[in-house]
Amino acid sequence: MRDVRHLYVHLPFCASRCGYCDFVTVVGRRGEQGAYVDALLAELALEGGVLAGPPETVFLGGGTPSFTELGELARLLEALPPAGELTVEANPETITPELAALLRRAGVDRVSLGAQSFQPGLLAVLDRRAGPDDVRRAVYLLRDAGFDNISLDLLYGIPGQGAADLDRDLAEALALEPEHLSCYELEAKPGTRFTVAHGAELERQAEAMEGYFERVVDTLTAAGYRWYETANFCLLPERAGGRDLRARHNLGYWLGRDYLGIGIGAVSTVGGERRRNLPGLARYVAALAAGTRPPREIELLDGDTRARERLLLGLRLDEPVALAEVAPAVDREALDRLAALGLVEVSANGRGEELRLTRRGRFLGGAVTAELLA
Ligand SMILES: C[S@@+](CC[C@H](N)C(=O)[O-])C[C@H]1O[C@@H](n2cnc3c(N)ncnc32)[C@H](O)[C@@H]1O
Ligand code: SF4
Repeated sequence: MRDVRHLYVHLPFCASRCGYCDFVTVVGRRGEQGAYVDALLAELALEGGVLAGPPETVFLGGGTPSFTELGELARLLEALPPAGELTVEANPETITPELAALLRRAGVDRVSLGAQSFQPGLLAVLDRRAGPDDVRRAVYLLRDAGFDNISLDLLYGIPGQGAADLDRDLAEALALEPEHLSCYELEAKPGTRFTVAHGAELERQAEAMEGYFERVVDTLTAAGYRWYETANFCLLPERAGGRDLRARHNLGYWLGRDYLGIGIGAVSTVGGERRRNLPGLARYVAALAAGTRPPREIELLDGDTRARERLLLGLRLDEPVALAEVAPAVDREALDRLAALGLVEVSANGRGEELRLTRRGRFLGGAVTAELLA
């Protein structure tokens, strides 16, 4: 089987750890980056056979890919197969003219910057190293280097945040004219230091979340962005010289396509299997140095599980899902009820029946999808 078209590469290293973060990260340990890049390339050599030629998309995510030592990052990018879209995640304070030029030379055509907020007080609550000026400077440096596809990540529901702060963050982000924006509800894992420290305030934020979500959607759509996925927005083609600026890599996930993930904690979905590499750095590097596969968990995905996932992810998009693809996962009675309530829209055309959430349904999102599940 050689039909995987999306490659994810995990670079876990970060300068420090942000309290709210639940991603697989490794703090500091720069001296281990060379061995880690060797291991990534060894894993790609072992697993890359599933790729159907050059991938449509490659995504370097983290951690902080832009914290990788420049020589190692260049070596990695050079060894990766060419792709139709090559995205690198970056933290604002790591962007220098040298890094921006290196990324550009290496064929990176999309940079996803973790801004999170433009309010110094809120950035401090999140333990972010970058201040608002670092975010702006990073965007200018990337523009100077020739990047014309920049995405900004924002968070809402941050302890201490109010609606006016969110409005200011959205305005500051829009002033930078990014091609793409990801706006996430802050998720705080129960039992973490962050959650214990901000417990009562996180509860207050949880109550405000629905209102924040509507504010984000209303503001960004009014500013000419397409709300193409629950948390993702891109400039409308008519504002972008006809370009479709949706994140093609993530679109692959939402459309239920197979993908190969390499690196610690990376997940792959390949031909009915979900493979999850374990998070330990030393064991990962040692296994690949010995020419063996890294420690990982394998889950078999049956047709029903895939249909459920396809429904859950597909309904996050503003385009319809073919009912035939998700039929085993859909409760028909619930579908009729939700359609009558104006939360789901069923349409029929030459390709058969299709469903999507209405605008109101999208605001309720997960709750509607949960009810729809058989
Ligand atoms: C893989 S993370 C890391 C990117 C980069 N290291 C950074 O911090 O900007 C990608 C994005 O996920 C989002 N994110 C991280 N932790 C989150 C959380 N607990 N809840 C919601 N979104 C989160 C942030 O917006 C972040 O920019
Ligand atoms: S820099 Fe990004 S990946 Fe690293 S700890 Fe902070 S949020 Fe997580």
